[in-house]
Amino acid sequence: MALLPPQFQKLGDAKLLKQIESDLKVVENRIQEATAQTDSVVDTMSNHLAQAGGKRLRPLLVLLTSHLGSGTNSEVMDAAVVMEVTHLATLYHDDVMDEASTRRGVDAAHVVWGNSIAILTGDLLFARAANIVSHLGTDALQLQAKVFEQLVLGQLHETIGPGEADPLQHYLDVVRDKTGSLIALSARMGALLSGADESFQQSLQLYGERVGIAFQLADDLIDIRASKKDSGKVAGTDILAGVPTLPALLLSGYEDAESKQLAADIASASEANIASVLERLRNHPVIAEAEEVTDSWAEMAIDALQPLPSGSVKSALEAFARAVVDRKG
Ligand code: IPE
Ligand code: IPE
Ligand code: MG
Ligand code: MG
Repeated sequence: MALLPPQFQKLGDAKLLKQIESDLKVVENRIQEATAQTDSVVDTMSNHLAQAGGKRLRPLLVLLTSHLGSGTNSEVMDAAVVMEVTHLATLYHDDVMDEASTRRGVDAAHVVWGNSIAILTGDLLFARAANIVSHLGTDALQLQAKVFEQLVLGQLHETIGPGEADPLQHYLDVVRDKTGSLIALSARMGALLSGADESFQQSLQLYGERVGIAFQLADDLIDIRASKKDSGKVAGTDILAGVPTLPALLLSGYEDAESKQLAADIASASEANIASVLERLRNHPVIAEAEEVTDSWAEMAIDALQPLPSGSVKSALEAFARAVVDRKG
């Protein structure tokens, strides 16, 4: 993997960043080990996405918050691996559910090997993550188990839909659960396994959930306007998968005929007209509104850091929150 993506290269003081970059290299080797198998056929499948790239933001957060305690150690690095491998497993499954063709710039696993292999490979990676975290103590194990449940429930609730609930609130709850949960855990793990003050856990949980919501809302915007070159994914996947993300949800607040037509076209979009639907959505004022909401979650994440001591880690976490919403991929 390349070093940090450009927008994450200004996360704090140079010394901290250098340390983290060098620790990320060790973590990267452990990720490749953790996704490798003795069987060479399975190895190709389980390594497919780990080798294809990715931003490694969850490992980065683990390493960063370890500096609220005594800094990186072997357990912290393993926790960083557990976060990335868990994330990887969700990506294998997510691409099956979304019928996404491309991930991290390469063919999605189900495109190469079919759904059964993609699902089993995801399961295998979840098992790998569980094996590693089982050596990190009861607290880490319990937190990971809880978050695993929460993220699956988030994905389930997205699939089931809002029912009688308010669609926007339902969506924010889904996003907190499917994405915020693992990002919050990443922020907590570094502090937990480096002996940082226990009172930091609550702030990091809140920060992580909010930054995770901001991250997913930014991802939803990327799904509408990003090029495959920047995101490694194909635009329009959410609409085609029938997932009404923030811009589509906010569109229901517009009463004019053009907006109503656009909302209807989003709901019935197909491969045949997705390009023109995306083009109209990109040019609608709802995008600016969605960007504002997204930015406000990053600012709320920063507010959650208030109880933490001032210093390079806190500044880096603030910069991280802003970088998350200011990205193309
Ligand atoms: C993609 O996560 C899935 C979401 C939660 C939106 P990332 O954007 O972190 O994906 P990689 O790891 O960089 O590929
Ligand atoms: C899924 O959200 C988030 C996960 C927890 C995997 P998306 O479906 O928006 O993720 P991408 O856009 O495919 O990466
Ligand atoms: Mg997806
Ligand atoms: Mg997406």
